[in-house]
Amino acid sequence: MSQKTWGGRFTGGTDRRVEEFTESIGVDRRLYRHDIVASQAHAAMLAEVGLISVAEAAQIGEALDAIGTEIEAGTMPYSIALEDIHTHIEQALIARLGDIGRKLHTGRSRNDQVVTDVRLWVREAIDRTDELLADLQRAFVGSAGRDEGVILPGYTHLQRAQPVLAAHYYLAYVEKFQRDRERLTDCRKRANVLSLGAAALAGSSLPIDRESVRAKLGFDSVARNSLDVSSDRDFLVEFVFDLSMIAIHLSGWAEEWAIWSTTEFNFLELPDAFCTGSSIMPHKKNPDVLELTRGKTGRVIGALQQLLVLLKGLPLAYNRDLQEDKAALFDAFDTVEGCLLVAAPLVAQTKLRRDVLAARIEDGFLDATTLMESLISRGVPMRTAHEAVGVLVKKAEGARGRLADLPVADFEAVAPGAGAAVRGSLGVANAIAAFRSYGSTAPVEVAAQLAAWRERLA
Ligand code: ARG
Repeated sequence: MSQKTWGGRFTGGTDRRVEEFTESIGVDRRLYRHDIVASQAHAAMLAEVGLISVAEAAQIGEALDAIGTEIEAGTMPYSIALEDIHTHIEQALIARLGDIGRKLHTGRSRNDQVVTDVRLWVREAIDRTDELLADLQRAFVGSAGRDEGVILPGYTHLQRAQPVLAAHYYLAYVEKFQRDRERLTDCRKRANVLSLGAAALAGSSLPIDRESVRAKLGFDSVARNSLDVSSDRDFLVEFVFDLSMIAIHLSGWAEEWAIWSTTEFNFLELPDAFCTGSSIMPHKKNPDVLELTRGKTGRVIGALQQLLVLLKGLPLAYNRDLQEDKAALFDAFDTVEGCLLVAAPLVAQTKLRRDVLAARIEDGFLDATTLMESLISRGVPMRTAHEAVGVLVKKAEGARGRLADLPVADFEAVAPGAGAAVRGSLGVANAIAAFRSYGSTAPVEVAAQLAAWRERLA
């Protein structure tokens, strides 16, 4: 008899080249735990509604556990003739239980089975990603606490713009990764839906109880339309988009720190354990982890693109194209997981070079905008103040000096009677102290945010 689960209708075997071309066991074997759990829930439900006996369900449940152990031990033989993990497990069950095993697939199809397994897998992957993001946020919050009072140059266009507290800088990444976590939470809602029971496409004429399976597998709801189920991979696209956004956030941070670790910037001391050397240049210490993080982002975005193109133009309901979804999904998750696993300790162990930062922090007119705002506070119209400070910057730059090096008279000209006071308020420390708006780098604002994040991430 044919080993194929669909052998009845066919004469002769499948061409070997077709088996090689159509197999998915090489990729979907990763779903074995999810497949077993879903099958156990399905079997228990079949017994509840009387489609199999309670004793049969118990035997199926136990045999599936044994098959899981075998797979875990690596002793399960895989064969492309059995196409995928679902068929492997079902055939192993039939080999153990005979006719009882042949009852498991009652009221379901691989179409709803595959997507159920993937949903279970994605649910775990979302939770794991969320945990790793929280670890990374904690690393940034730790650095924010350590470097709370340190002042960094803030950049726009990679040109010195305004001073910011180091804590403010670190918390900017905490915010980005928080949004990533919120996106995952949102995605989880649409992922955590029971597909099983939609069967091939139209549902079943058997008295299956989908609500019972939902409760057993911890899904939030039951998919309402059987025809929608087997073609619905929206949750996958969403998840891989969320992973792409994480990768994009990581890539910006990685690029920034790669730049900051150069001799030209020299803001950071990367931990030796997270850098590599050169086989020919003895002095080199390269930020490979940061570079690979930046580079791997391309893979994740590529996976998103792959999924979108895969789904484009697919008619209802199941189409075999869908089997291709898992390679992209798994690779995107593995890549982001790998990045996050090294990012958190790298952040925790990297130190700012406070001396280098302090020695250069008065360069680049970081106090110019605060000077302008102080003139505005003294009644100078904004555009007039902007122009006046621009002229002062030009003058200081011509003298290769700072704003504070200019004579009091220059400030007196724009702020009559207050030239000395205005000049005395220059410098980055004064600029930082002058901030006051909500969400700004004002020390009280940053301290409040830091305290809130410590509590949120505790
Ligand atoms: N290996 C297939 C997959 O992963 C199983 C689904 C097969 N369904 C079908 N109608 N041929 O998508």
